[in-house]
Amino acid sequence: MSSQTNPSARNDVAVLLARVLGRNRAWILAHGEAIVSEEEAATFMSYCERRRTGEPIAYILGDAGFYGRDFLVNEHVLVPRPETEQLVDETIAFIRAPMRVLDLGTGCGAIGCTIAAETDAGVDATDSSGDALDVARENARRHGVLDRVLFHKGDLAEPVKGNRYDVVIANLPYVPTSRLKKRPDPTSFEPREALDGGPDGLAVYRKLMPSLPRLINEDGLVLMEAAPPTIEELAAMLQAALPTFVIAVGNDYSGLPRYVKAIDRRSEGATYRSSGV
Ligand SMILES: C[S@@+](CC[C@H](N)C(=O)[O-])C[C@H]1O[C@@H](n2cnc3c(N)ncnc32)[C@H](O)[C@@H]1O
Repeated sequence: MSSQTNPSARNDVAVLLARVLGRNRAWILAHGEAIVSEEEAATFMSYCERRRTGEPIAYILGDAGFYGRDFLVNEHVLVPRPETEQLVDETIAFIRAPMRVLDLGTGCGAIGCTIAAETDAGVDATDSSGDALDVARENARRHGVLDRVLFHKGDLAEPVKGNRYDVVIANLPYVPTSRLKKRPDPTSFEPREALDGGPDGLAVYRKLMPSLPRLINEDGLVLMEAAPPTIEELAAMLQAALPTFVIAVGNDYSGLPRYVKAIDRRSEGATYRSSGV
């Protein structure tokens, strides 16, 4: 991989060096003559070697940016993606008074912690991975929302059975099993439990659907992220589960259909202003 022909590699190298030296990238570019210590050089080379194997930069650095905040990440959690920020935007636009929000498959807690930090909402967050929940709890502590995000280990909404929510937001695994990437693709370093959506990519969402009518308040909002080719089918599944709700598809920053939302007819057009649909 030549840094002269691969702009991503050039950028990654600058990011890694900036972290090792405790400087920003502009400083790195302006100080090509700077001398680094042997220790700094050794750390930098070990980071570059890890990157060469395909390991995501976020795992090497131990953090990833999401909605303007830094989140601790490691090999137990998916690296939060920019497209997921759209679902957070939708939620923030919808929240009027203190509301109850359910974040299903919270991973590093990026969605739940951001909503708690940006609004007055109380959040329940679930994940089947105890290791992921440890990371999410640490992120809630870092962002000062540990008292408003309750973490629950278990399958989908099982741990919060009996509760009802104003917003249910889910970024569950949605990669069809046959499309999971192998090394050295960076996604192959992420937990399979965070990516594998079964044969058609919708197995986990399909399992969730029957519980939705008992989870969501009748004037609530449901948001689900998935892969562009499966969005229409996910929209049909959601419509079947919540027949009185209006279903719409939202695009990501690249203009690709990325999420489905279900909103009660009475909420639509009230104070709520959708950001992307
Ligand atoms: C695609 S990752 C999303 C993580 C995070 N919400 C985000 O947007 O960055 C999916 C998460 O769902 C969790 N998960 C997978 N199957 C689950 C299940 N049946 N019940 C609860 N969580 C599950 C995984 O452990 C993983 O943390």
